[in-house]
Amino acid sequence: MKVVFTGSSGYIGSQVFKQALADKRIDKIVNLVRRLPTNSSVQHDKVRTIIVKDFNNYDKETITEIEDADAAIWCAGTFTGDQVVHVEYPTTFYNVVTSRPAFKTRTTPFRFVYLGGAFTEPDQSKTLWFMPTARKGSGRGQTAVADFSRMANFEGYVVKPGIALRAYDEASWLARAFGWLAGSYWTAWNDEVAKVMIDVASGGHRDVLISSREIAETAKSRSD
Ligand SMILES: NC(=O)c1ccc[n+]([C@@H]2O[C@H](COP(=O)([O-])OP(=O)(O)OC[C@H]3O[C@@H](n4cnc5c(N)ncnc54)[C@H](OP(=O)(O)O)[C@@H]3O)[C@@H](O)[C@H]2O)c1
Repeated sequence: MKVVFTGSSGYIGSQVFKQALADKRIDKIVNLVRRLPTNSSVQHDKVRTIIVKDFNNYDKETITEIEDADAAIWCAGTFTGDQVVHVEYPTTFYNVVTSRPAFKTRTTPFRFVYLGGAFTEPDQSKTLWFMPTARKGSGRGQTAVADFSRMANFEGYVVKPGIALRAYDEASWLARAFGWLAGSYWTAWNDEVAKVMIDVASGGHRDVLISSREIAETAKSRSD
């Protein structure tokens, strides 16, 4: 499977990227970044890194790389609910993929797996007391991505972790205790988020929105 990746430098994205490098189902990763990565792990046989100046306006070379991809793992995001990042960039990507001639002849669906959050709020009329702008901004992103699934052969998924804790094996005892006490509604292990995003990119999921609890359950059931 050929996967387009964004947000590979991020706290969650770097964990997803690390697992994607090791995953045998993925043969090629097109890593879209806005600046050259400092992390040497992105230099890997199966990675092609492309610096994108404007995620709303891809050049020809980038379009050629993404048009025959099978999935996108979209970990780029903000904590301010930036409309451009959360809504415009995924929508531009969707428009580019679905408008290419290659898309019309697809025999398998293109899967777009977007990193949302447990506390994102799609209902723009709701009064929120905690981080309202950020939560409603990423909520608009969630609505946009969920709507991608209206197109035949295109599936949009939103993976919605609670507070992301480091990968379980790398976490301190304090983080493990916090994760255990807070539970999977409020928190998610980064390695489980990564596993689920990659699994969904590869095989889809029954739900478009995948809650923090479902991340934990799906990660466990798929490792059995
Ligand atoms: N951390 C959590 O506990 C948590 C929990 C649930 C949901 N989330 C959500 O998940 C998303 C990622 O969280 P994170 O903790 O991984 O954040 P992060 O460490 O700040 O990473 C953000 C990633 O998005 C990229 N990005 C940001 N703005 C961009 C832009 N304008 N163009 C291209 N790339 C851009 C960054 O690239 P650069 O390196 O170029 O800046 C980076 O790779 C956010 O939307 C966040 O709200 C986070």
